[in-house]
Amino acid sequence: MTQSRGFAVVTGASSGIGYELARLCAEDGYDLLVAADEPEIHVAAEELRALGHAVTALELDLAREDDIARLIEHVDRPVDLLLANAGRGLGRAFVDQDIYEIRRVIDTNVTGTVVLVHEIARRMRERGSGRILLTGSIAGFMPGSYQAVYNATKAFVDSFSWALRDELLETGVSVTCLMPAPTDTKFFERADLLDTDVGEDDSKEDPADVARTGYKAMMSGEAGVVSGMSNKLQAAIAHVTPSSMLARRHRKMAKPHGE
Ligand SMILES: NC(=O)c1ccc[n+]([C@@H]2O[C@H](COP(=O)([O-])OP(=O)(O)OC[C@H]3O[C@@H](n4cnc5c(N)ncnc54)[C@H](OP(=O)(O)O)[C@@H]3O)[C@@H](O)[C@H]2O)c1
Repeated sequence: MTQSRGFAVVTGASSGIGYELARLCAEDGYDLLVAADEPEIHVAAEELRALGHAVTALELDLAREDDIARLIEHVDRPVDLLLANAGRGLGRAFVDQDIYEIRRVIDTNVTGTVVLVHEIARRMRERGSGRILLTGSIAGFMPGSYQAVYNATKAFVDSFSWALRDELLETGVSVTCLMPAPTDTKFFERADLLDTDVGEDDSKEDPADVARTGYKAMMSGEAGVVSGMSNKLQAAIAHVTPSSMLARRHRKMAKPHGE
């Protein structure tokens, strides 16, 4: 085992973008604390361990306050990198969704993220160093018909990231927002979005490329990054398009076929 470069905490590291982010941290020489909600996190941890550094895996639900407290308890050394990536989507019309599932999206993407970042950012500021990467989304730029709550949570994360970055300027702590476009992960299946245009689209981004873009931006202290040139253009256009038009366009992408 080569000498560790530091300590990284990655949430949602069992699959998709989070797994690839954790892999980049491990390849770069960081010890890891990885967390996710299902037993697969232990499989991911085993693969990450093979890259040569210490990896602790926690199976916990970031939508639950007691589980976030358990995660924080395990952060028993200075954190150099915090990658707050865990998140979940939820398709279908808002009034047809289950209120428990709706709350779980908010509690994971917003409350869980905020509580974790609050504690770790505070410790980083005391120490005068650290890097935070938040996984927001380009979904945060557009009202998400047929994924209304999810897009609203990502608008929160995108906005929160820019504000926190500003507050922490000159403290030695940098905050970066990764804003992926549709990416080929389990996200769409889990969000019940497979029978939609966006779910069926086979030109989604590769999660390894998206993670590389985010990791590089975090390590160079950039404020925010959208992965992929055409997505950058789409994001720029969204900023000057009326919300009603964006919602209408989103309906086309996310409305289940046959509804
Ligand atoms: N895929 C896209 O098109 C896309 C686009 C923009 C932004 N994003 C964002 O990227 C992030 C990663 O998503 P992904 O696309 O990589 O999807 P993914 O493969 O489904 O990964 C989501 C990760 O978050 C974890 N997670 C979800 N809910 C959790 C909870 N309550 N407690 C603990 N862990 C939880 C999952 O763990 P378990 O498997 O254990 O539940 C998994 O490790 C999310 O924040 C998502 O909103 C995705």
